[in-house]
Amino acid sequence: MSFASRIATVIALFAVFVAAGTARADGNAARGKDLAYTCLGCHAIDNYKNVYPTYSVPKLHGQNAAYLVAALQEYRAGNRAHGTMHAQASSLTDQQIEDIAAWLGGAALAPTGKPPAANAPQAAQVCVACHGGDGVAVLPEYPNLAGQQADYLERALEEYKKGARKNPIMAGFAATLTPADMKALAAYYSSQSPGLETVPRRASRFSAR
Ligand code: HEC
Ligand code: HEC
Repeated sequence: MSFASRIATVIALFAVFVAAGTARADGNAARGKDLAYTCLGCHAIDNYKNVYPTYSVPKLHGQNAAYLVAALQEYRAGNRAHGTMHAQASSLTDQQIEDIAAWLGGAALAPTGKPPAANAPQAAQVCVACHGGDGVAVLPEYPNLAGQQADYLERALEEYKKGARKNPIMAGFAATLTPADMKALAAYYSSQSPGLETVPRRASRFSAR
């Protein structure tokens, strides 16, 4: 099978997986706002860093709720190797995860249908099918990458490649990337706008929103 048809197969399989999956964003945002209070200590501070190894805490404002649900379920199940996020997610029920996801991302970025910019790395051609030419995902089950912290994106790609994040779709794509590709792709998507933002502090428990 050619590379292109292998990718077409993976995308087709993934569409079936999404259709059959349980990731629905039917949470209660008002409850989510209370539940997410402890999360703001890291996710509502601009350029806050994970201590060791040092890389930026991901931006969540503008992210798709269905993807946030999937990510939290993966930390809880140990399919992502981050100790703190595993601990954070472990105490959450499915309903609490839905509620938090309904609130934490705010209004998700809307897909633009834009093609990749002229300075996009060659390797980005494959990513466009799901993450869009400008890093705004084509479906809410996929993460938006636009404006995300570059060092976080690079770290995520490394972790898919080495299996510290166990996701069959991204493991396959990351396996084809060199460290230089990962750095270039992370820089490209991070520089796109409109993009993700740090959860605003005004969105704290004490605000009117
Ligand atoms: C001590 C700091 C800290 C706290 C508190 C914290 N997080 Fe995180 N969070 C992180 C870091 C660091 C990562 C990146 C982990 C990785 O590399 O996979 C992360 C990743 C995430 C992701 C994945 C984002 C993506 O793009 O895939 C979600 C969703 C998330 N956190 C939600 C939460 C929620 C909800 C809470 C509260 C229940 C919370 N976090 C509390 C530091 C924190
Ligand atoms: C078939 C659809 C598809 C394609 C094509 C694809 N991805 Fe993904 N990507 C996903 C899904 C689904 C996830 C979420 C996986 C998970 O739950 O951990 C993801 C996650 C990611 C993440 C982690 C985001 C975060 O917030 O933690 C990065 C970075 C990423 N992809 C980059 C890429 C790059 C770069 C390419 C091209 C080389 C690519 N992806 C191709 C579907 C795709």
